[in-house]
Amino acid sequence: MSSSPWSLEGKVSVVTGAASGIGAGIATAFAEAGSDIVVVDRAPRQAAEPVLDAIRAAGREALFVQADVSSDEQVASMAAAALGHFGRVDILVNNAGIFTEHKVEEMPVEDWDLVLGVNLRGTFLCIRHLLPHMLERGSGRIINMASQLGQIGGADVAHYAASKAGVIGLTKSLAREVSTRGVLVNAIAPGPIVTPLLESETEEWRSRKLGELPIGRFGEVSEVTPTALLLASDAGSYYVGQTLGPNGGDVML
Ligand SMILES: NC(=O)c1ccc[n+]([C@@H]2O[C@H](COP(=O)([O-])OP(=O)(O)OC[C@H]3O[C@@H](n4cnc5c(N)ncnc54)[C@H](O)[C@@H]3O)[C@@H](O)[C@H]2O)c1
Repeated sequence: MSSSPWSLEGKVSVVTGAASGIGAGIATAFAEAGSDIVVVDRAPRQAAEPVLDAIRAAGREALFVQADVSSDEQVASMAAAALGHFGRVDILVNNAGIFTEHKVEEMPVEDWDLVLGVNLRGTFLCIRHLLPHMLERGSGRIINMASQLGQIGGADVAHYAASKAGVIGLTKSLAREVSTRGVLVNAIAPGPIVTPLLESETEEWRSRKLGELPIGRFGEVSEVTPTALLLASDAGSYYVGQTLGPNGGDVML
């Protein structure tokens, strides 16, 4: 067993939304740190093949489970599959998320429900189905993917910002409930990171945002994964209920 505080050797991590973007980066980085990985995504297995290959190339085991995190039944099956296969889950990364843009006065109610359903309800459901196992073992880490928009809000993204502010509130509340029982809960609130999600933004938004960013450029997935590794490993053992911001200086708290 490695003595590095950054090691995840012997751990099992569940990463949702791991077929793409930040989730794929975290799954790969965790595998490289020694963790076996449950790759959860609503996309079919084919979409996850590159990350499954990367996990295996790191010498770790990868289990793919197709699930929509907003479905209680599918998340229950995912948790049972993960625990059935590996016998334990040490780390849960609630990363699956979706993003759309509407002005509030034009926002379809269905869109509000969809975004809140995946980003906030989905985070709750994965916690609801894996937390009892962590509490039983008296150890675990939960990392929730928020967004800086949950801290500062954003025009045309009230539903997304509300979902991510909800994730931050859930993180703080759960941290207060379970930290003394061995489960540490924190969030990450990235700024704009180059992924397929960011590519769905309009050109106008992208050039305005670039002008606002103190660092003058968008972030890379590899600039978010070290924060996740910190919060998952012994190196992050004194972080409780925090929201860490790899954001290029867009938000300074
Ligand atoms: N990219 C950014 O600029 C940015 C900034 C802040 C926060 N985030 C957050 O980071 C997370 C990852 O975003 P990304 O940029 O990597 O996006 P992405 O679109 O590249 O990846 C998201 C993944 O989640 C999966 N997914 C979507 N809905 C799902 C569901 N209901 N059930 C299971 N899987 C589902 C998708 O299939 C996809 O594989 C999201 O929560 C997002 O809100 C992204």
